[in-house]
Amino acid sequence: MYQNKRVAALILMAGAGERFSSHIPKQFHRIGGKRIYLRTLEPFLHLKEIDHILLVTHPDWIETVKEETLAYGDIVSVIAGGKTRQESSFIGLKELLPYDLVVIHDGARPFISKKIIKDNVAAAFEHLAVDTCIPSTDTLVESSQGLFIDAIGNRNKYLRGQTPQSFSTPLLYEAHVAALKQGVSNASDDCQLVLQFGHKVAIVQGEESNIKITSPLDIYLADQLLRIKTTQPEDCSIFHDRDKDLKGKIFAVVGGTGGIGKEVITQLKERGAEALSLSPSSEIPFDLCAPEAIQKTFSEIYKKYGPLDGLINGGGLLQIKPLAELTLEEIHKMLSINLLGLIYSCKAVTLKKGGVIINIASSSFTYGREGYSIYSAAKSGVVNFTQSLAEERKDIRVNCIVPSRTNTPMRRKNFPIENPQELLDPIVVAKKIIEIIYDSSLTGSIIDIKK
Ligand code: CTP
Ligand code: MG
Repeated sequence: MYQNKRVAALILMAGAGERFSSHIPKQFHRIGGKRIYLRTLEPFLHLKEIDHILLVTHPDWIETVKEETLAYGDIVSVIAGGKTRQESSFIGLKELLPYDLVVIHDGARPFISKKIIKDNVAAAFEHLAVDTCIPSTDTLVESSQGLFIDAIGNRNKYLRGQTPQSFSTPLLYEAHVAALKQGVSNASDDCQLVLQFGHKVAIVQGEESNIKITSPLDIYLADQLLRIKTTQPEDCSIFHDRDKDLKGKIFAVVGGTGGIGKEVITQLKERGAEALSLSPSSEIPFDLCAPEAIQKTFSEIYKKYGPLDGLINGGGLLQIKPLAELTLEEIHKMLSINLLGLIYSCKAVTLKKGGVIINIASSSFTYGREGYSIYSAAKSGVVNFTQSLAEERKDIRVNCIVPSRTNTPMRRKNFPIENPQELLDPIVVAKKIIEIIYDSSLTGSIIDIKK
């Protein structure tokens, strides 16, 4: 629902993917182990704006798609599409006439963000027809035969159209009917039909990362994009429970005596939650290098408090040295504190249904740096571990934050001459962690926090 309007998403995925030329249509290929169309679908789930999601698929694949989306429940339905995109869109549209607004998205664009969807709905409410566009960085050249250039347009005048394209449902329906009457049956896009119908189309800002998988090279790009994809803070702005305090809730905070962890404890307590600090010097002593002890501590916590509402893994150790100068003991300790201990904690903790794990990684996870080999290897491990666990544990939420350089004692020890003005304040990072605790729809997300 948006402003009392019923809103449906229509995902077009009935194409054969001829340019992709593979034995299965491109939207059924996997990136990061998951089918492309499922990645496309997921951002539409749990958005309060979206009331229903209709997948229009190739008739040969309908049973597979039904089976693979069963777990999402009634919010998703599946029907067979047509021979052209226009036909598939019209078939879907006819099913969705009871909805006021329809958000039409290519099944082959898996990097759609929640922000674009929300912006589409708001703009369609206001303007009745909208397209998602980004500026063209390349110059666009006009050529009717593809051999010689006819004209070169002014680059600033051209945008690249992506999807979603979103509409007032009755307006788009009328535009489709009018187009068919005029013999137009192979339009590559719905906005074109609305324009021909004489209605103006507003523009919503798209994103470079909202790519459409067209050729096999795009799968490679998509894998890389997936690897570095982080959730933008805007995505965290839906706090269903924002007004509620955290009274009666219990969280364990590993590394709670310093830096980000300490600040998280303060903010949790301010909101009325109980926060158990787990670190070598805290009341409940905790050693990330001792797997059995970790197991024992969490089973004692379970006996005393029952299942927890959340676990925040904020323990960390950074020692900048080339590999050649690190002792085996130092390597083992750095791996244990930054990765192994976190894994053991996630395995040992018992959380309530809907509880949350928040792991703290570091911006060094995307690229190894000189002197950081073990630290950045561990932190990229934290990110991959978070993604896997989020896929495995649908009963809880598992997220990871990636703060840029933060003003913590660990940072100051390693970089004593850095200007603190340039560093992130741990208070800001802790605030973001609290927001993630509130956001009951967020899981498997890597959340970037920048100064
Ligand atoms: N689409 C559809 N029904 C069709 C044709 C296309 O639902 N008959 C969908 C595609 O599945 C895709 C989106 O429309 O998600 C955009 O189309 P495009 O990228 O052109 O995909 P294909 O038509 O499958 O690819 P190609 O043009 O290379 O054959
Ligand atoms: Mg096509």
